[in-house]
Amino acid sequence: MLAAMNPDDLDDVRPATPAEAADVAAMHAANLLAWDEAAEDYERRLPGSIKLLTSGGHSLLPVETALLGDLHACALAVHLQCAGGEDTLSLWRLGAAAVVGVDFSPRMIALAKQLTVAVGAPASWVQADVRTLPASMDGTADIVFSGRGSVMWVQDLDGWAAGIARLLAPGGRFVMFDGHPAEWLFDGDGEGGWLLTDYDYFGGTEASRGWAPAYIESLSIPDGEQHWKFARAWTLGEVITALAGADLRLLRVTEHPVDWWRGHRDVAPAERGRLPLSFSIEAVRR
Ligand SMILES: C[S@@+](CC[C@H](N)C(=O)[O-])C[C@H]1O[C@@H](n2cnc3c(N)ncnc32)[C@H](O)[C@@H]1O
Repeated sequence: MLAAMNPDDLDDVRPATPAEAADVAAMHAANLLAWDEAAEDYERRLPGSIKLLTSGGHSLLPVETALLGDLHACALAVHLQCAGGEDTLSLWRLGAAAVVGVDFSPRMIALAKQLTVAVGAPASWVQADVRTLPASMDGTADIVFSGRGSVMWVQDLDGWAAGIARLLAPGGRFVMFDGHPAEWLFDGDGEGGWLLTDYDYFGGTEASRGWAPAYIESLSIPDGEQHWKFARAWTLGEVITALAGADLRLLRVTEHPVDWWRGHRDVAPAERGRLPLSFSIEAVRR
């Protein structure tokens, strides 16, 4: 997705150097700083989130609610990479008795706590990296959910998958919905159609600075002074292989034409409908 951004929107995009790509902890530390900066955009949206959730609404896409189903039998849902907590509290709105949101950004967690107080929800928040989740959470979740815009920030898929398996109670369910890696290969041509980007599908992690406005609106820190961050369009094969290598039984992998981040609204709907823009995976703990 980053490669597909208009270069005018994004000052700096380059492949991660081999030394950067070999140091997962350093890439995650950089990502934490970049996401703490991006939390400013989520803070602006807090009043809207409060209004939505206090009126009984939720922020999940129809494709996500269809995957999750009725959550009234769910005692605890854990939401990974929860950002400001709007989607996490939406799991409660869909019926989960209690929810836990996990994110490594202290500013996102502080925001999620504000939202919880305003909404009066049975939620708690854990500031942690998804690859180093606290052992106290092991086996607690009936559902672990990972939503849109998440997995590309994780630079250690095996650690991520092992953490998901640890979180789940036996028989618990993992549901993920995220951007399709093939999306990084295409961008709008300005006339309602698609053009091929120069993104290398097998090229690995990209470093970038600045955000596409359709993803994160302008921040008070200029693009060129923001922290570098590291993202990767993990192939479907890599994601599935990581989950299959953890203590999980895969139930279903589905590709969707759903434009999950409003990044391609300039492309005609019929054109959008013929590319895989997102995917979902459902699995259960063995
Ligand atoms: C695009 S947001 C996810 C949005 C989410 N689907 C939602 O709206 O509820 C990505 C989030 O992942 C978090 N994040 C990125 N890498 C992480 C990691 N390794 N561990 C924990 N959180 C991480 C960021 O702080 C950010 O809040």
